[in-house]
Amino acid sequence: MSSSSLAFDDKKLDLPIKDGTIGPKVVDISKLYGATGVFTYDPGFTSTASCESKITYIDGDEGVLLYRGYPIEQLAEHGDFLETCYLLLHGDLPTAKQKDAFVYDVTHHTMVHDQMNRFFQGFRRDAHPMAIMVACVGALSAFYHDSTDISDETQRMVAQIRMIAKMPTLAACAYKYSIGQPFVYPKNELDYTSNFLRMCFAVPCEEYKVNPILSRALDRIFILHADHEQNASTSTVRLAGSSGANPFACIAAGIACLWGPAHGGANEAALKMLAEIGRPENIPKYIAKAKDKNDPFRLMGFGHRVYKNYDPRARIMQKTAHQVLTELGIKDDPLLDVAIELEQIALKDEYFVEKKLYPNVDFYSGITLKAMGFPTSMFTVLFALARTVGWIAQWKEMIEDPSQKIGRPRQLYIGAPRRDYTPVGQRS
Ligand code: CMC
Repeated sequence: MSSSSLAFDDKKLDLPIKDGTIGPKVVDISKLYGATGVFTYDPGFTSTASCESKITYIDGDEGVLLYRGYPIEQLAEHGDFLETCYLLLHGDLPTAKQKDAFVYDVTHHTMVHDQMNRFFQGFRRDAHPMAIMVACVGALSAFYHDSTDISDETQRMVAQIRMIAKMPTLAACAYKYSIGQPFVYPKNELDYTSNFLRMCFAVPCEEYKVNPILSRALDRIFILHADHEQNASTSTVRLAGSSGANPFACIAAGIACLWGPAHGGANEAALKMLAEIGRPENIPKYIAKAKDKNDPFRLMGFGHRVYKNYDPRARIMQKTAHQVLTELGIKDDPLLDVAIELEQIALKDEYFVEKKLYPNVDFYSGITLKAMGFPTSMFTVLFALARTVGWIAQWKEMIEDPSQKIGRPRQLYIGAPRRDYTPVGQRS
């Protein structure tokens, strides 16, 4: 193992350098504080690897995304979402027999406890569905006591299956509740994504026929969102889990983090932005706003902490958007026109080129989901549904790592130094 040395004041320390399979090396600073009494400082963790992981690899400069070594393009083209879940959880693609068993297990855990329905009734009809999801997923830990013992491998496995299986049911209930329609129960003869579409869009008075092109497109969107290494919500899940919290509570924490517009909330924000721009001729005004340092406006769906190249998921998403619009006979979607034009202009603009700001996965996903009939408030919920497997795979990897310990960052304290209490009457 190679090492690097760090010298300051009169101290010198050799820091081991670790190699991954691919990607940048890391300098192991875990002994730094003990040996020297100083911390490292890296707000936003731009230069920090928080863990070892075998799950997902991103090369942001080249625009590469691999799940367990497989390129996202191949999985999106040839695989399906549940197979991808198996891959993320177990490390390899399933054999036909393993896949059948996994699909069977997930399919037979899709119902939620009937008392969960009462949770929904407690919300206002105009509650954001992400608020409902944070609450209901957290509440799962109050229903499934037989899968909250994290030291029991079987219970961990059952919790994973339950979470993947029940997220579509809860997400569909959140949507149905918001529009005042009755909940639609899962149907085991349907595949995972078709079942979800049916639970969202079927009504008891009519037969619902799943459109296989839309189902395939949504399944692909789920594959694209399934994992993305140590992003904000995944790191939240790991941090929550590092204290020994149960997996349902950890995933609820991940959902809360995903909600923000800089993360999963960007798909909702991107569509709102496209609607606000309205027409291609308004684009220059918004580009100027995005470039103005004194204006907080950002082009939503543009830029990424890791990708300094075209987000590989955005390419697939763009193709999927076209497929869905063609299938639905939407020839002229003004939002798509604005999106295509905006992308073209931004990709040539010096500001965006210099800062390496490319469209990310959220740029086209909103257009696609809207065309399918989902309201904007559901976009981030769909992201959460798909990312659940990534969160749970990362949580499982952490729990099963013998060197795992509670995550506890330190700080650079810049507050008041020690001072003495003064009684209220003596304060000026
Ligand atoms: N529009 C205009 N300027 C931007 C944008 C944007 N979308 N994104 C970054 N910049 C500028 C930013 O002002 C800064 O400029 P300067 O160096 O002059 O101060 C520079 O680019 C670097 O930005 P940063 O905020 O330091 O970069 P970051 O890595 O901390 O942020 C980001 C990454 C995704 C939060 C940011 O690009 C952003 O806010 N994008 C819009 C929201 C979005 O689309 N998020 C979805 C991310 S992909 C899905 C997911 O993983 O959840």
